Amino acid sequence: MINEKMTDVLNKQINNEIYSAYLYMSMSAHSTHIGLKGFANWFMVQYQEEMVHAMKLYDYMNSQGGKVRLQALDQPPSEFDSPLDMFEKTLTHEQFITKCINDLVDLAMAEKDHATNIFLQWFVTEQIEEEGNDNDIISKLKRIGGDGNALFMIDKELATRVFVPSVGTQQA
Ligand SMILES: [Fe+2]
Ligand SMILES: [Fe+2]
Repeated sequence: MINEKMTDVLNKQINNEIYSAYLYMSMSAHSTHIGLKGFANWFMVQYQEEMVHAMKLYDYMNSQGGKVRLQALDQPPSEFDSPLDMFEKTLTHEQFITKCINDLVDLAMAEKDHATNIFLQWFVTEQIEEEGNDNDIISKLKRIGGDGNALFMIDKELATRVFVPSVGTQQA
């Protein structure tokens, strides 16, 4: 059983995860628009992962008797200065999400909600991976500067990313 306080913040996190999906969907559309199909693929995989994160929270709430209340989504940006700008905004956003997850863990501990605390550990680990991936790509993009051929190579590399559904979600 989740208490009302925890229910409210988990509902907010469902909204944060769906907003993340929305943001990356927007970046995917922008990438397609400027002819970077690999970047578009990478961001669309990211969109799918974020929807899985939202569904994990949704399923957890339902399983624990919490009431899911969906909230309005903010409009994501649709213009970006460069591929580097997209990844810098991605990292900034993920750092915000990491802070949200940390705050959720703090609250679960304060409320002595051990089940939710354990449930949230998956997200703590996931955020380490997400920030790491973004940092990797940012450093590559910084290294190549304005080299169009090198950007083409990175686009080819990002085209190989495949969505792998994580174990334990009800999404097949
Ligand atoms: Fe997420
Ligand atoms: Fe994320």
